[in-house]
Amino acid sequence: MSEAAARPLSTHYTDVRRATESLIEPLDPEDCALQSMDDASPAKWHLAHTSWYFETFVLEEALPGYRAYHPDYRVLFNSYYNSVGAQFTRGMRGLLTRPHLAEVLAYRAHVDRHMGELLARASQLDPKLCDVILLGLHHEQQHQELLLTDVKHLFSANPLHPAYHKNPTPASHTAPPLQWFAYEGGIREIGHTGAGFAFDNEGPRHAVLVGAFELASRAVTNAEYADFMAAGGYTEPAHWLSDGWSKVNAEGWQAPLYWERDGASTRVMTLSGLESLSPDEPACHLSFYEADAYARWAGARLPTEAEWECAASQQAVEGNFVENGRLHPAPAAAPKNGPDQLYGDVWEWTQSAYAPYPRYRPAKGAIGEYNGKFMSNQLTLRGGSCATPKDHIRPSYRNFFYPDARWQFSGLRLARDL
Ligand SMILES: [Fe+2]
Repeated sequence: MSEAAARPLSTHYTDVRRATESLIEPLDPEDCALQSMDDASPAKWHLAHTSWYFETFVLEEALPGYRAYHPDYRVLFNSYYNSVGAQFTRGMRGLLTRPHLAEVLAYRAHVDRHMGELLARASQLDPKLCDVILLGLHHEQQHQELLLTDVKHLFSANPLHPAYHKNPTPASHTAPPLQWFAYEGGIREIGHTGAGFAFDNEGPRHAVLVGAFELASRAVTNAEYADFMAAGGYTEPAHWLSDGWSKVNAEGWQAPLYWERDGASTRVMTLSGLESLSPDEPACHLSFYEADAYARWAGARLPTEAEWECAASQQAVEGNFVENGRLHPAPAAAPKNGPDQLYGDVWEWTQSAYAPYPRYRPAKGAIGEYNGKFMSNQLTLRGGSCATPKDHIRPSYRNFFYPDARWQFSGLRLARDL
């Protein structure tokens, strides 16, 4: 059982809720209200929506006499749950000048007070309700990461390049040379082992046939990605999937998101503002299309999620996570007993479609909308990032985004057939 799962539910609840609120400490109320694109949400909305989850799926279901804090919040802060009812348009969340941030924090406090009443008798609660609360805490951790990536995108749209924080740990070491680690082929098992929490999309655990393969010792670096660019990576259609090539041309992509050319040098938008591009850090803010094109140019390919999980299950979950406070990928260390950097730094695109595992069945009711209905047209990413809480990640964790998404901390690691 993981450390998080072993914690009393009430302590776990308080830890996660306070961690979310600590993320807005560096922000002004104005920063919290704005949204810079349809895929992102204002920080204020993340704060409210994660409370909406507990109000809707826990308090209204299980606390006798509970009255909703504000009837309109049911619509305003519903993300995508059609079984719950109507939703406010996602791309217009940045127009919500009301409720004020203070009011959203009061909403959080109201929900926390009533959750406290419920959690005070956690040992008497229906285990199914405890599962819904635990899901809400892991859901809130997902929104913690989204809050940071959404703030980064918002700040990147401002020519003043505001800093969310001052990077406390500038990385200075160089990335080690790329090595390859070989893995035998055979029938392997992937999916959650059943110990501790997992999202439903991580199971059922099942057998897969994996061919012999090798995996790179670290993520692709900025220097390596710059070589691809210098070799005409963005101008040679042979490297690209058809949809990717269309995107390159439609969007005018010439570099990863957040790279800014400044004469001969390149600077990059970070949560510490505009910084010189470090050649040794992992290439980041890449779409699946860019990751795939780079891999093809490099004579390799992206790993499948089964390959990635087989390698990652042999490694401890250690890495550059949000707790480091760096909020930016760091250069890899020299590999010891296997690939480095599988966890943390950057989410690694795989070539695997985000599809249901064999015999997967979403839960009945509104909670069943959490993951299952998104299983089309997206790709899986593995391993967490520098904005992921450490106790949120595990070998079987499946993140998923559309192939053109670039605002997450997404990079890649190469694989090859043996
Ligand atoms: Fe959500």
